[in-house]
This record gives sequence, structure tokens and C-alpha cells, in this order.
Amino acid sequence: AAAEKGGWSSFMAKEVAEQPEAVANTIRGRVRDGAVVIPELDGLDELFIGINRVIITACGTASYAALVGKYAIEQWARVATDVELAHEFRYRDPVIGDDTLVISISQSGETMDTLMAVKYARERGARTLSICNTQGATIPRESDAVVYTHAGPEVAVASTKAFSAQITALLLLGLHMGRVRSTLTDTTAVEELSTLPEKIAQVLAEENEHVSQLAGWMADTRSVLFLGRHVGYPIALEGALKLKEISYIHAEGFAAGELKHGPIALIEPGQPVFVIVPSPRHSALIHSKVVSNIQEIRARGARVIVVAEEGDAAVLPFADEVIRIPLAGAMFEPVLAVVPLQIFAMALATAKGLDVDQPRNLAKSVTVE
Ligand code: AGP
Repeated sequence: AAAEKGGWSSFMAKEVAEQPEAVANTIRGRVRDGAVVIPELDGLDELFIGINRVIITACGTASYAALVGKYAIEQWARVATDVELAHEFRYRDPVIGDDTLVISISQSGETMDTLMAVKYARERGARTLSICNTQGATIPRESDAVVYTHAGPEVAVASTKAFSAQITALLLLGLHMGRVRSTLTDTTAVEELSTLPEKIAQVLAEENEHVSQLAGWMADTRSVLFLGRHVGYPIALEGALKLKEISYIHAEGFAAGELKHGPIALIEPGQPVFVIVPSPRHSALIHSKVVSNIQEIRARGARVIVVAEEGDAAVLPFADEVIRIPLAGAMFEPVLAVVPLQIFAMALATAKGLDVDQPRNLAKSVTVE
């Protein structure tokens, strides 16, 4: 096993470090003449034309990738998109039919809840497409089409490189759909895609030590909150899930705008709160809303750890710690912002003496309902 870890202390550490490659491999072969063209979807344009609705279904971490996909598909392909947890989707009477595209996301391709959702969608006449990391798995076999993530095998129970590859695949799919549907106006997205792997590598190189040190200081923490807005919201959810899974610390992710509707009552002096700050270059309004959320929690004594793009000085007066990510397009920031949160969870679990690869009570793939 030590050899399989390639010198890393855990599979999770190895898989976190492999993210630039996982993302690059997922993009490879899918850009042609400056546009995203996914070869597996050749001849399948009709999957994306004449649809009125997209539902993305998944569980756990894959469902957070799905939330990022919702923003990308709505923006680029201009079709109403919702995310449904697979185990909820099937147990009501959803309004779906042949005008609905149901996209499933699964690293293993064997998650029973997700598989049942896909079968259900097909029975109801919906078009189905899966995003999967495992060649030939059951979920892609049950779907009309598949877009594979090429993250390579993921061994650690806590998903990391599969997550960044899932977001990448959704971005590719959103751009592919936007082209097919003639709704795509974004001219910088393809360029952004190609620079993503090196930017992930930059976050790993520049923030690993800082974030690990921070986690070491926080080994006795009992609860950590994560706030995000827009595509930072799913990253807040993912940061909290990673921490719960491997460090057994209570953690919750919120949409930053929800604070005043309840969660702010949790803030007391010393409460650690991570805030994913979106770039002011994309929306000064969204950025300023998040900065005022930071001010509100800081005023109540929270210990604020921000994840913000390089050069964003507006956060400095209110942050106890600043974690930097490189400048990227709005849809691409999540892949960068999640990296320090993965490192944080891993370092904190390690500081507590826990086995990060095999957390208690969890299986890598949940093949029962
Ligand atoms: C993530 O860290 C998890 N252990 C879990 O939430 C996982 O993402 C979920 O069970 C879905 O698995 P899948 O992608 O293989 O379908």
C-alpha cells in the first residue's frame, strides 16, 4: 500500500495533489478549434435540443458539483436547471418527460440511489446523460450518453480529485450544450479551461503549508462554519462535508445570504468561519454582499478565514486569515476555492491522529439504498 501511495502519507493527500492532472485529463481531447466539442456526444445533439428542463441528480459530494453545474448550464445553455438529491428525486412524483434531460453524476457509477434515479428518469421518458469516473460502470450503462471524468482511480473515501473533475466535466458539458443550442456568448471560457490545471497547481504550491498550519492550530475546534454565495455556496457545502467526513468535527455550509435568516445566531466569539469570497471582477454587487456578511460575523467575534482571489484587498480589514486563489472566470473559481478546504480537512484530521483514507462508518461507494 505504501508503494501505491507513491510516497504520499495517504491516498487522500496523493489524490488532492493529483488534481491538476485530473482536471487536465478531463479537458483533454474535448476542445476543437477554440470550442468545446465532447467526442462522446457526437451525433447526439438532439439530447440538448427541444428540452425545457435539466435535472442534475447525485448524492453527497457529486451533488455539490451538480450545484456548480446548475449555474454553468443555465448561463451557457440557457435552460432551466435544478439539482435533486437522487434519493429524494424518486420518492415524489416529479414533473419530467421527454422534454427533460436528467444528468446524473457519480464517481463510482455504482451508487444505488443515483442508479435508481436514472432508471426512474428513463422509465418516465426523460433523456439521460451520466458523468462518471469509472469506465463501464452501471450508471453510464443505464444512460443514453456518458461523459467520463478522467480523474483516475480514487481510493480515499473522501472525494477530492473526482469532485474537481466532475465540476470540470459539467463546465465542458455546459459549453458543449451552449454551442449546440446556439446560446453561448462567453468567448473567454475555453481559454479559462486551459489555464485551470496550472492554477490548481499554484494553489497547492502556495497554500498547502499555510492551510495545514492553520488546521494544526485548530485541532481542538468543535465546530466550523462555511459560507459562500453563487458558485461559492456549493464549495461551502463541500468544505463542511470534507471536514465532517474525515475529522468528525461538526461543520455546516450555508449560503452567505441565509446568515440573517438564522445561522448568524450560531456566531459567538472565537467561532471559526470560512468564507468563500467571489471575485469583485465578476460582480461587484455579489462581492460587496459577501464582504458585508464578513463584517457582520466579525462584529460578533467570529474568527474569519477568507478564501479570496489575489489582490482582493477589501477583505483584509475583517479577516483573521486570508487564503489566496489565482484570478479565474466566475465558473472556474470553485475548482480553485475547494482545494484549500480539502487540505484543511485533511490536515485537521491528521492533527487529530485520524486515518484520513478510511473514516469511520463510511464506505467509498454506497451500493445499497
Ligand atoms: C464524498 O467525500 C463522499 N464520501 C460521498 O458523499 C460521495 O460523493 C457520494 O456517496 C457519491 O458517490 P459517487 O460519486 O460514487 O456516486
